Amino acid sequence: MELMSFDWWLFCMRWLHVICGVMWIGHLWYFNFTQTPTVPKIPAELRPGVTKFILPEALFWFRWGAMGTILFGLILAYMNGYLGSALKIGIGDHSTHNTTIGIGMWLGTIMWFNVWFIIWPNQKKNIGLVQATPDEIKVAARTAGLTSRVNTMLSIPMLYCMTGIHFY
Ligand code: HEM
Repeated sequence: MELMSFDWWLFCMRWLHVICGVMWIGHLWYFNFTQTPTVPKIPAELRPGVTKFILPEALFWFRWGAMGTILFGLILAYMNGYLGSALKIGIGDHSTHNTTIGIGMWLGTIMWFNVWFIIWPNQKKNIGLVQATPDEIKVAARTAGLTSRVNTMLSIPMLYCMTGIHFY
């Protein structure tokens, strides 16, 4: 295959898409499988180590990973010539591929929205970037945590669709 050809750029976009996806979902699963269940077991005086140092850094890679994933994912669909068809979930196009990737793309887009418009604004209160009362911080942490759990559950069918394109 020729270097810098269309096919090479297509491959490059797929590679960047998956790299960003791992950065995003890797952190999502770290939050839900490791951090959230473990923090309550950490002695109170050590907890700021997580909330003040690890969490802000992890949230940076998490949210920008999500941004890169959706950006390169949409470029991929456009370069493959099925962006419109996938967005209408392949309806009317008799394409199981476009239906499958379309469902995956919508699930991923809902998850991206949750990251940028629910989890991150609430976490900003939790890590002290936005002023909030202790009660507000409690509500914010709970909202962010529940939304994060929803995203973890959505990530399973989303990845089923992303990889299912080679089957359906
Ligand atoms: C946020 C919205 C997302 C959009 C719009 C999107 C879009 C796409 C598109 C268009 C493809 C190409 C399918 C094809 O080759 O025909 C794809 C493949 C793929 N995506 Fe996503 N995606 C998203 C989220 C994710 C996430 C979070 C991951 C996590 C790692 C991911 C992992 C993959 C994988 C592994 C493939 C398969 C590559 C292959 O087998 O060739 N995607 N995605």
